Amino acid sequence: RGGPLVLGIETSCDETGVGIVRGRRLLANAIASSMDEHSRFGGVVPEVAARAHLEAMTPTIERALDEAGVTLDELDAVAVTCGPGLAGALMVGVAAAKALAVGLGKPLYAVNHLVGHVGADLLQGEGLREAVGAVGELELPTVALLVSGGHTSLLLVRDLVSDVEMLGETIDDAAGEAFDKVARLLGLPYPGGPQIDRVAADGDPNAIRFPRGLTLPKDLERHRYDFSFSGLKTSVARWVEKHEQSGEPLPVADVAASFREAVADVLITKALAACRDLAVPRLLLGGGVVANARVRELARERCEAAGVELRVPPLSLCTDNGAMIASIGAQLVAAGHEPSGLGFGADSTLPV
Ligand code: KG4
Ligand code: ZN
Repeated sequence: RGGPLVLGIETSCDETGVGIVRGRRLLANAIASSMDEHSRFGGVVPEVAARAHLEAMTPTIERALDEAGVTLDELDAVAVTCGPGLAGALMVGVAAAKALAVGLGKPLYAVNHLVGHVGADLLQGEGLREAVGAVGELELPTVALLVSGGHTSLLLVRDLVSDVEMLGETIDDAAGEAFDKVARLLGLPYPGGPQIDRVAADGDPNAIRFPRGLTLPKDLERHRYDFSFSGLKTSVARWVEKHEQSGEPLPVADVAASFREAVADVLITKALAACRDLAVPRLLLGGGVVANARVRELARERCEAAGVELRVPPLSLCTDNGAMIASIGAQLVAAGHEPSGLGFGADSTLPV
């Protein structure tokens, strides 16, 4: 039949995601986002996100079942993101998944959100492989760079369900958060990432040399694979303030392009350093920031030069979604793992 039929629920941030897979086959990927409700605050408001999940949960489950053409009774298992993420938001997903599993008498699997992002790459379906990146099976080990508004993590994945190592992560802001904050500085609306990307297309990436966080020799000792974006954000703020005193109009395109270059450069440099150090010739990208044109371009150029195979799942699977959680759930079922039971809770700081 092509593997276990699994429904996955994801609510770690502002997306209510419900996906259904059969083994590696993607059957449904229903998403409801509360993004619009957060835009006037310039960032995700945890309480607003949790309430939105509550309202969206049942309709999103129904939409996913509809899309997949399956009934709840047919499911082999339920999977859910148990962390890391926003505590209240996670709790809604975990409670919904437990209720479903208990009500249906199906096994329940708790999945780490970051591992879920890697699981997105396994999925196969109509048109999914038209995106950038390699065709064919994901080979392991792989380095994974996961970049969104909530996380910026570099992982070494030796086995999807049993051996994932965190190499490094941001010590302050997530990269997407930096995009959102700098966009606000430049008077661009939320979410800022796509706006900066658009504006930067007409700018000179070398106009201003913004700092690359944690890349000095003294930083590299302790933070070789860690990221920092708050210094970069402050540096952009200072530059803008200083420029305003000149009375000249702000060269928004050049600032955006130079900022985008600094982020893309440091992300890809560190990811490829990990590939080189660990002799892993594969890099997998995930998270909403993967939509960034310069991040994609630089990843492609430098991976090719370094002889590293680049994998980028389609964007609909890079941003937070339930299908990636279902994908890991299906792997757990197939590998004969024990279900998680009902004893687990949402863990906002869950390690990999
Ligand atoms: O994965 P995602 O949809 O949701 C979570 O953060 O959980 O990522 C959203 C983040 C936002 O910070 C948004 O500004 C950023 O990804 N983003 C981008 C682009 N598109 C979305 N950042 C840079 N360039 C983009 N084109
Ligand atoms: Zn995510």
